[in-house]
Amino acid sequence: MSSTSPAIDTDCITLTRFVLEEQRKYPSATGDLTQLLNAILTAIKAISTAVRKAGIHHLYGISGSSNSTGDTVKKLDVLSNDLFINMLRSSYTTCLLVSEENENVIEIEDENKGKYIVCFDPLDGSSNIDCLVSIGSIFGIYRKLTDGPATVNDALQSGTQLVAAGYALYGSATMVVLSLGQGVNTFMLDPSIGEFLLTERNLKIKPRGKIYSINEGYEQYWDEATRQYVISKKRPQNGKPYGARYIGSMVADVHRTLCYGGIFMYPATTQAPKGKLRLMYEGNPMAFIVEQAGGAAITGKQRILDIVPTNIHERCPVFMGSVEDVKDIEEFYKKYSS
Ligand code: AHM
Ligand code: MG
Repeated sequence: MSSTSPAIDTDCITLTRFVLEEQRKYPSATGDLTQLLNAILTAIKAISTAVRKAGIHHLYGISGSSNSTGDTVKKLDVLSNDLFINMLRSSYTTCLLVSEENENVIEIEDENKGKYIVCFDPLDGSSNIDCLVSIGSIFGIYRKLTDGPATVNDALQSGTQLVAAGYALYGSATMVVLSLGQGVNTFMLDPSIGEFLLTERNLKIKPRGKIYSINEGYEQYWDEATRQYVISKKRPQNGKPYGARYIGSMVADVHRTLCYGGIFMYPATTQAPKGKLRLMYEGNPMAFIVEQAGGAAITGKQRILDIVPTNIHERCPVFMGSVEDVKDIEEFYKKYSS
């Protein structure tokens, strides 16, 4: 063994290098997407550091204001939102931003304008912040499809139009999972060099898993399809029951589902007829990733990516994960809606 070898890969594939390589496959590419992703990565690195230092710097707790949908906003949420907005605005690649934390779309002023629209949830899983459970950031990137000034209508595109989507998971390590529409790749933050390094190329989800993930406390509010589906997994006629796992952070629950297989669910309830999760910056980016990994993502009745939004904060029921598991719940919906 060499006595001089530090454990550093001298030819490591950083996320930026990976995206630059992808971009070279398209002679017409301008490099704007790489620039945009770099802006997002800067925000993610800063959020990751803030998350890990939150207790020390008193970033936990309620900041006193409410976000656009009435949830309590925490200090880390505000900081993460500011980072996303400021980094994207100064990347010169965007014209419109949609954030979970802002009631209206954010229009980028002319001198900073570019062709992309970014929808994001800067810090998802806010109820888990104070107890150090994994949280994440989610983003979806669209191209502006029309000429003229950008308006909210430019942002109301279905998930099938996504150019790229990804999420950052602030877990025991910080990871970015990214799809540019040709499979899913994962990158782990190496804090010693401040770079995201490629850890898995072309991640694929198992066709069937052994885990279901849902907030079972709301069982009395579920529809019959969801109730019967969950019963069928807990008390199968043949074989072993599924295991149950629910973190309560969509990024962490979906990431586990991608890694181990199974299904993540946030159904419609009698209290929330369209569920809780937001289509444009939670449902769509995560559905895009799951589909790109070979899985499926539906509302129970239709493919999530096919929904054309009418409102930037609209919600949708979510069932996503292994293809066969999603097919099972779809069958229950067919059975109980007829
Ligand atoms: P948030 O955007 O306010 O953090 O809410 C979204 C989160 C998701 O991460 C998670 O899947 C869900 O809320 C959990 O909700 P519940 O506590 O109702 O199970
Ligand atoms: Mg959220």
